Amino acid sequence: MAVQRTFSIIKPDATKRNLTGAINAKIEASGLRIAAQKRLRLTEEQAGIFYEVHKGRPFYEELCAFMASGPIVAQVLEGENAIAKYREVMGATDPADAEEGTIRAEFAQSKGENSVHGSDAPETAEAEIAYFFSGLELVG
Ligand code: CDP
Ligand code: MG
Repeated sequence: MAVQRTFSIIKPDATKRNLTGAINAKIEASGLRIAAQKRLRLTEEQAGIFYEVHKGRPFYEELCAFMASGPIVAQVLEGENAIAKYREVMGATDPADAEEGTIRAEFAQSKGENSVHGSDAPETAEAEIAYFFSGLELVG
């Protein structure tokens, strides 16, 4: 498997609790490289576009409001099999189901406020990276 890129977000519940460094330590300890990173704050509309695939689901409005409720850290992670690898490092969506040692098991507060996002497939990774980063910002 060649080197792959995935897109990650450290969500507002985690930035609020000063967990950016602790989450990045877990990412780096897993062997993934933080190839690009920036802290920003989304509007609800921007969050809605990012999570468009979930539009119409019962949690969508709450999710968009949450994602706009504070700063996020957007990241591009690089490594062998990075998409699946980061999903493993993150743990299951609901922290109650997340394996011990994963980011969500350790830090997530609930199924909604679950500290991190990670892409789920090569196509979504590419689209999500392009939504947040220009080619000039991808320095490796
Ligand atoms: O983030 P992940 O890919 O693990 O889960 P998802 O099914 O793609 O859902 C995106 C996000 O919506 C989750 O990370 C949660 O923040 C939120 N969500 C929620 O609040 N309630 C649900 N029942 C499912 C997802
Ligand atoms: Mg998802």
